[in-house]
Amino acid sequence: MGDQAKTPVVAEAHLVDTFHPPQKMLDKHPSKPHLSSLEEYQQLYKESITEPEKYWARKARELLTWTRDFETVRSGSLANGDVAWFLEGQLNASYNLVDRHAFKDPNRVAIIYEADEPNEGRNLTYGELLREVSKVAYVLKKMGVRKGDTVAIYLPMIPEAIIAFLAISRIGAVHSVVFAGFSADSLRDRVLDAQSKVVITSDEGKRGGKLIGTKKIVDDALKQCPDVSSVLVFKRTGADIPWTPGRDLWWHEEVEKWPSYIAPEVMNAEDPLFLLYTSGSTGKPKGVMHTTAGYLLGAAMTGKYVFDIHDGDRYFCGGDVGWITGHTYVVYAPLLLGVSTVVFEGTPAYPNFSRYWEIIEKHKVTQFYVAPTALRLLKRAGDDFVKARMPELRVLGSVGEPIAAEVWKWYFEVVGREEAQIVDTYWQTETGSNVITPLAGVTPTKPGSASLPFFGIEPAIIDPVSGEEIHGNDVEGVLAFKQPWPSMARTVWGAHKRYMETYLNVYKGYYFTGDGAGRDHEGFYWIRGRVDDVVNVSGHRLSTAEIEAALIEHHAVAEAAVVGVADELTGQAVNAFVAIKDGNESSDALRKEFILQVRKSIGPFAAPKAVYIVPDLPKTRSGKIMRRILRKILAGEEDQLGDVTTLSDPTIVDKIIKTVHESR
Ligand code: WTA
Repeated sequence: MGDQAKTPVVAEAHLVDTFHPPQKMLDKHPSKPHLSSLEEYQQLYKESITEPEKYWARKARELLTWTRDFETVRSGSLANGDVAWFLEGQLNASYNLVDRHAFKDPNRVAIIYEADEPNEGRNLTYGELLREVSKVAYVLKKMGVRKGDTVAIYLPMIPEAIIAFLAISRIGAVHSVVFAGFSADSLRDRVLDAQSKVVITSDEGKRGGKLIGTKKIVDDALKQCPDVSSVLVFKRTGADIPWTPGRDLWWHEEVEKWPSYIAPEVMNAEDPLFLLYTSGSTGKPKGVMHTTAGYLLGAAMTGKYVFDIHDGDRYFCGGDVGWITGHTYVVYAPLLLGVSTVVFEGTPAYPNFSRYWEIIEKHKVTQFYVAPTALRLLKRAGDDFVKARMPELRVLGSVGEPIAAEVWKWYFEVVGREEAQIVDTYWQTETGSNVITPLAGVTPTKPGSASLPFFGIEPAIIDPVSGEEIHGNDVEGVLAFKQPWPSMARTVWGAHKRYMETYLNVYKGYYFTGDGAGRDHEGFYWIRGRVDDVVNVSGHRLSTAEIEAALIEHHAVAEAAVVGVADELTGQAVNAFVAIKDGNESSDALRKEFILQVRKSIGPFAAPKAVYIVPDLPKTRSGKIMRRILRKILAGEEDQLGDVTTLSDPTIVDKIIKTVHESR
């Protein structure tokens, strides 16, 4: 225990209970957890930090199948931004996810498809998956997709999304998935930035009983993407959709033409596997690039040790394949380990709030993984909805945002019936896989703490003012990592300078996460949230600058400032302050137009929850918008605004306060 006399910086850590892996979970375990004790974790962790090459070489050979072995385990450095792993090694991702399991046991279920309407789903075995993937790989090849080309995916949560991922990697191409909730404008920007020539989509999507016009959105996006030569369309609903002959091809018609096996392309360890666009503190989304071997290893390792995946498990991650959680934990981790993964098309609220629990019961799910935002919704709906029998559940994961202690406890007691371990996993699009997280069956947990670093992750708490690392326990600062790990992003597509500036040049020699964090008296990590202009709404990462840029596109907007405010249901919510151009009148209709503008430019999930039309924004004399003041006003902390005399117009503050009050 730490020094009790000292006032702890991480105050809550002293007050919370520590939960050990539940005995009942160990009792019902099909065998035993992969690690036997916390001491074993500590010993291996130490090796992974002091002898990373030895540690990772062993793990890479154990968990991945290589066509050619590697010689150089790790090269490059964080300081130089040229990290590479397993050089000379060769392998193929789809072979590792599909073929090796299909050869051993073709009838094992790979995908459990749970359609939007209960009872409309189906299962796909590894043998079937290999055939489907091969056919689509053939189709893509015939469309002219070559090794290294990027292919955009704009698909709902259906098995074909996973087939598309795997078909692309099978021929050595690079997938670039765009979440099917993004607008046509956002899709266009991503297709252009990645220079994708092929887009894979569906006629429509179906989610929570509602239809989503995916093909129509693709058509709109592609009006400004002259280089896209082909669109492969999966028929999901059979809706009547516009068709561009010569460019658009039906999935079901194309796959019939080609054989059900195509050899996987041999790839180098460091060849790109995928791009995934994510929001940063500036307006333009970044195409975060992951490479083949390192990323696969991170996915397999965390699947094995964080979720304690064993043969025969049925793994259910509720994330969408449009985000990193869906990439790593719907697709890569479970399939690399040869277990069944649930692909859920719908929402936790349709047809009612029991949906997740009924899926878990029906498919005897062993690990479940979801964002706290869904848990908050379901907790609020009431315990009566959690009647399903879920005796197989061993691990309950949380991801994407901090989980409040009362939600954590509800998850543990009401959903898990104290027979499953909660793992609060901290990571990012850029880290590829979980980086600070408990290991199921091994790590003691404290509600609200992501606990301890994963293998190979050497966290540092840095004083943001001095830029110096703060050693010891009971400290608070910003979170960085001190050495490279296999699944870290290698670059931002076409913008390596931006990669360096965002992650590696902020504190030289470290990878900077952009999150604040504390390390408590026992060395447990507590994630505080972003220290940059990124807001987290329902686990979706949004950039305030990107939303501001969307608002400015509206002809009546002179200036806009967007801030994140605490929200009971969505974690944070987007609030926008808009100064309008002369000649425009503030009205509800105009506020609605602004919200629509954001929906159109980015997507419905980024829409501001409140829009305040104000005479001007609080700015310094040099023109910098003081978002801090706006945040304080929204939090009702008008008495703590600090010195406002440095503003170019200090009287604006009272006017903004009045606007906010009047609209409440
Ligand atoms: C936040 C999602 C607290 C954090 C996997 C991070 C979390 C951002 C947690 C990355 C957690 C993720 N506790 N905060 N367990 N997990 N975050 O790229 O702010 O969509 O920087 O990846 O989510 O969001 P991204």
